[in-house]
Amino acid sequence: MSERTGGPAIETTGLVKVFGEKRAVDGIDLTVPAGTVYGVLGPNGAGKTTAVRMLATLLRPDGGEARVFGHDVVKEAAAVRARVSLTGQYASVDEDLTGTENLVLLARLLGYRKPAARERAARLLEAFGLTEAADKQAKNYSGGMRRRLDIAASILNTPDLLFLDEPTTGLDPRSRNQVWDIVRAVVAQGTTVLLTTQYLDEADQLAGRIAVIDNGKVIAEGTPGQLKSSVGSGSIHVRLRDADRRAEAQGVLARVLQTSVTLDHDPVALTARVMVDGAAGGPAERAAHALGELAASGITVDDFSLGQPSLDEVFLALTGDKRNRPGEAGDKSGTNGTNGTTNGTTDGTAKRKQEATA
Ligand SMILES: Nc1ncnc2c1ncn2[C@@H]1O[C@H](COP(=O)(O)OP(=O)(O)OP(=O)(O)O)[C@@H](O)[C@H]1O
Ligand SMILES: [Mg+2]
Repeated sequence: MSERTGGPAIETTGLVKVFGEKRAVDGIDLTVPAGTVYGVLGPNGAGKTTAVRMLATLLRPDGGEARVFGHDVVKEAAAVRARVSLTGQYASVDEDLTGTENLVLLARLLGYRKPAARERAARLLEAFGLTEAADKQAKNYSGGMRRRLDIAASILNTPDLLFLDEPTTGLDPRSRNQVWDIVRAVVAQGTTVLLTTQYLDEADQLAGRIAVIDNGKVIAEGTPGQLKSSVGSGSIHVRLRDADRRAEAQGVLARVLQTSVTLDHDPVALTARVMVDGAAGGPAERAAHALGELAASGITVDDFSLGQPSLDEVFLALTGDKRNRPGEAGDKSGTNGTNGTTNGTTDGTAKRKQEATA
C-alpha cells in the first residue's frame, strides 16, 4: 500500500472501463505527484472524463487499480471522497440561483454555518472576479463567469485533489487566462490538480507533467519538454542576406538536416524542420551544424531562430499524423507534414464549438 503522506496523489495500474464493446479506458497507468498540476491531454472520446470519474469514485472500474493518496477508489471510496473535488466538464451550478446563493447553498451542504458560508462565498467570488455578478442569477453569466463559479464551488472546502475536467473548453482567450490564474492559485495553496484538456497550450502552460491519451490508452507521458523532445523536432528559421542564394541555401539545409525545407513568403527566408534521430545530437546542435554549412558555402545568414516543436506537433505526431515522426515509413520525401498542425487545430476548434453549443 502506498504512503498516505509523501506518496503520489494518484496512482493507477492497468485501469480499465468498458462500456458495451467500447474500452473507454483501456489499461491506464498513471502516477500523479502531489502538489502539482498534472495534465491529461486527449481528443474527444479519448477516455479523459471516464478516467476522471473513476478516480473521483463516481464510476466503478472494470479492471486494474487506482489509489488516491494511498486509498483504493473502490474499497476506500469514502476516504477518497473526503479529499477530492470535481469540476465536471458540464457545469453543475443552479441556473436560477445567484452566484452568492449557489456558493452559500453548497457551503451549507458542506456543513458551514450560515455566517461562515456567507463569508466563504464572498471571499471566493472576490477571488474569482465575480463580486459584481454575485447577485445575478447564474443563467445570466457568460461562459467564462459560469466556469469560474463552477471552480469556486468545487474549492469551497480546499480539497487535497481537484479534478478539473476541461475547465476552459469553449471559453474565449481572456476567460481561459482567468481560469489558468485560478488553477495556479489553487495549486499554490497546496492542492494537487488533475486537469483534462484538449488544448495543448493549456497543458503546456499549466502542467508539470502530461499524459497524452488516445483510445483509452496512455500513448506518451512526461514533462512538456520531454514530450516535445521525444518527438524530436523543431524548426529553424533563417533569413539570408541575398535572395539570389536562397535556392542554394535550401539545398544545403535539405542535405544537412535531411528534412523538408520551406520557402517563406519573405524572399530571403527559409524554414526547415530539425529532426533528432538518436546519435545525431539535439536540435540546437544540428541547427548549428546547418548554419556552419551555410557559412562554408559562402551564404551569409543575417538572422536565424530555432523554435521548439509545439505541443500541437507532439500531439499530432503521437495520435495520428505519423508523417511528422522521424524515422516513420511515411517520412520519405521530406516534404510531408507541414499542414498537419493547421488541420488538426481547425478540426479541434470545430469540435469544441459544437460541444460548447450543445
Ligand atoms: N456512459 C457511457 N456509456 C457508453 N459509452 C460511454 C459512456 N461514457 C463514455 N462513453 C464512451 O467512452 C469513450 C470515452 O468517453 P469520455 O467521455 O471518457 O471521453 P473524453 O476524453 O472525456 O472526451 P471529450 O473530450 O469529448 O469529453 C467514448 O467513446 C464515449 O462515447
Ligand atoms: Mg470528457
